[in-house]
Amino acid sequence: MSSTLDNPFFARLWTVMAAHETEAIRRLRRENLAGLSGRVLEVGAGTGTNFAFYPDTVTEVVAV
Ligand SMILES: C[S@@+](CC[C@H](N)C(=O)[O-])C[C@H]1O[C@@H](n2cnc3c(N)ncnc32)[C@H](O)[C@@H]1O
Repeated sequence: MSSTLDNPFFARLWTVMAAHETEAIRRLRRENLAGLSGRVLEVGAGTGTNFAFYPDTVTEVVAV
């Protein structure tokens, strides 16, 4: 049995909201990703809000 879950309105809204996160949240994202290097697997990447916060030591992100 398969089913489809779809919420395009929320997906669009979230992308806009994520672009306006507070500096405190942005700092938490940087802290959370600090120390990573090489190839990273991000499970639950959503719309990719974390992508801009990966340190330069990360060379590749595989996102699901
Ligand atoms: C709270 S959001 C976080 C999104 C993004 N990482 C961020 O920091 O903004 C959690 C994400 O995990 C995804 N997710 C939930 N369960 C999952 C699963 N079993 N496998 C892969 N992704 C999943 C959701 O679709 C959603 O995009």
